[in-house]
Amino acid sequence: MAEIRSNAASVEFRNVTKIYGRSKAPAVNDISLFIEAGKLVTLLGPSGCGKTTTLRMIAGLEMVTSGQILIGGADVTRLPATDRDVSMVFQSYALFPHMTVTQNVEYGLGFSGFGKKETTERARAGLELVGLSNFGDRLPSQLSGGQQQRVAVARALVLEPQVLLFDEPLSNLDAKLRRRVREEIREIQQKLGLTVVYVTHDQEEALAVSDRIIVMNNAVIAQDGTPRELYEQPANAFVADFIGEANMFQCEVVSVEGDGATVHLGSAVLK
Ligand SMILES: Nc1ncnc2c1ncn2[C@@H]1O[C@H](COP(=O)(O)OP(=O)(O)O)[C@@H](O)[C@H]1O
Ligand SMILES: [Mg+2]
Repeated sequence: MAEIRSNAASVEFRNVTKIYGRSKAPAVNDISLFIEAGKLVTLLGPSGCGKTTTLRMIAGLEMVTSGQILIGGADVTRLPATDRDVSMVFQSYALFPHMTVTQNVEYGLGFSGFGKKETTERARAGLELVGLSNFGDRLPSQLSGGQQQRVAVARALVLEPQVLLFDEPLSNLDAKLRRRVREEIREIQQKLGLTVVYVTHDQEEALAVSDRIIVMNNAVIAQDGTPRELYEQPANAFVADFIGEANMFQCEVVSVEGDGATVHLGSAVLK
């Protein structure tokens, strides 16, 4: 019986910039980051801040304008998607409607050079991992949204990629299901020790599933830290506002004494 394993690798960006076509403003502006192997790291930020572009550059679906990308310490900057050991799970699932669940999961294994028997066994192991062992003969149209998403996850997992990418994977699911599927993704990630880069604009989702969160704003990284660090010590007003149910006050620091300070907040004096 085949078993799905992890070939988890780290991801590193060195001063990566992406400028699309003739646009003047970069979609991603000189960002550097390091994602440890075996961790789930979220790219969190408002629409248009550059999350999808960052993810697609990891996959090799977009090429950098400048800078370097390393996966598992190897420079992959110029490698096309097909030569990178990365799988992506799309928001729309992107399942083949005319293929059964099993055929969808097997797709890709053939290209990766697995024999017929190995392909069958791996697909079975993948479907078991996502709890769909009894659904192999169905068509995608005979599944719920959450089940379709799990097929997409299985299809990515059986390739045992160095990095697994998710771009807003829960957007098409209703609120209750969203919570369950995100917990399932986190569980499989931890069980197999996968490197996952997970894009979302939902701070609650990011806080719930991540080892680390990279907050993006306007094509740059606003802060990079654990959920707790971001929540308790936001680096700036943008992060405070985006992460928490923050109450922000304008105040004036009138003097600093050692570790403390005297602050005027309206007519109040705080020490
Ligand atoms: N293929 C493209 N061609 C030109 N501009 C693009 C393309 N894809 C994204 N952009 C622009 O790049 C910026 C970042 O987009 P994107 O990475 O999709 O952000 P996010 O995923 O955070 O919403 C946006 O201003 C967007 O309009
Ligand atoms: Mg996006």
